Amino acid sequence: MASSIITISSMLFTLVMALETLAPQAEAARAFFVFGDSLVDNGNNNYLATTARADSPPYGIDFPTHRPTGRFSNGLNIPDYISQEIGSDFLLPYLSPELTGQKLLVGANFASAGIGILNDTGIQFVNIIRMFQQYEYFEEYQRRVAALIGPKRTQQLVNGALVLITVGGNDFVNNYYLVPYSVRSRQYSLPDYVKFLISEYKKLLMRLYELGARRVLVTGTGPLGCVPAELATRSRDGECSAELQRAASLFNPQLTQMLGQLNSQYGSDVFIAANTGKMSSDFITNPAAFGFITSKVACCGQGPYNGVGLCTPASNLCPNRDVYAFWDPFHPSERANGFIVQEILRGTTEYMNPMNLSTILALDSRT
Ligand SMILES: *[C@@H]1O[C@H](CO)[C@@H](O)[C@H](O)[C@H]1NC(C)=O
Ligand SMILES: *[C@@H]1O[C@H](CO)[C@@H](O)[C@H](O)[C@H]1NC(C)=O
Repeated sequence: MASSIITISSMLFTLVMALETLAPQAEAARAFFVFGDSLVDNGNNNYLATTARADSPPYGIDFPTHRPTGRFSNGLNIPDYISQEIGSDFLLPYLSPELTGQKLLVGANFASAGIGILNDTGIQFVNIIRMFQQYEYFEEYQRRVAALIGPKRTQQLVNGALVLITVGGNDFVNNYYLVPYSVRSRQYSLPDYVKFLISEYKKLLMRLYELGARRVLVTGTGPLGCVPAELATRSRDGECSAELQRAASLFNPQLTQMLGQLNSQYGSDVFIAANTGKMSSDFITNPAAFGFITSKVACCGQGPYNGVGLCTPASNLCPNRDVYAFWDPFHPSERANGFIVQEILRGTTEYMNPMNLSTILALDSRT
């Protein structure tokens, strides 16, 4: 009796294995990779000796676990909402020891808070994963996956993946404008600095293409001058800092233009510009339309606009995070992140150029 049960269960096992082999590859959600800074970091910095981390309460207070994860949000961040849309598990940070075996096939998040396009951005955070090193980890990732499923399927997985890259804001706030008379601001006028950043960013994106990326969402910088931190330190009367707004308004259109050049060079819409600056401006200029009571005061922080210093266990904490556009002095709340991803998904060409994510998903599922 016992032996026949074993036989039946082993037959079932064989059958399940056979069915799994037959199941079309397309059944699995496409892989997803994330590169960039704190707007998209989901915990890599927890594994590093740096001050740029979000590993203590109240970070994560609205996350499913209600605990800090390293995300700079009260709950979900932009990559999490995108994972949900593509029907995938939340990405693990690349440095997580849990990222092994089959979990590697979901993708990985290489982002690191504090980094910029330039290596000299965020030097005060010491130990962070700069862009070139995020790419080195991506190469290492591909070798690890190749050991698992072979080089050919690894290349298919990477070519078929969705990629998100969010970088550039720190090149202003944690470099050019970090201190008065910074090295970069003595070296470049703002318009020339922006041109320099765009040319360095272009090299980074070309390298990403070489590494196999074929669908890349590239966000511009947010409204840098309007975040609570800048209202607290640079603004006289609660108006957005004109200088930082000027930086964003120079950077974003040149980024979109550069992506267009790359796409014609590659003969394909590899790079998609996500105008997160405009998406954020919408809720900053008209918070009530989005159900926010304020877009000036951060939920967690201290001082004017709760914009001074970091969000820590000792900070002021708003009772209802959903009615604040900003969670901490620099980062949108979970709810604001959700609005941004809705625009990434369904926005018109004013927000998503040349097309939105729902169009991409529909197109790519046919090929
Ligand atoms: C950044 O630093 C790395 C390692 O030192 C170097 O290989 C890379 O060329 C640097 N990038 C730029 C843009 O200077
Ligand atoms: C964006 O997505 C929506 C809904 O999926 C679609 O109807 C619309 O045409 C798209 N817009 C653009 C400009 O691609």
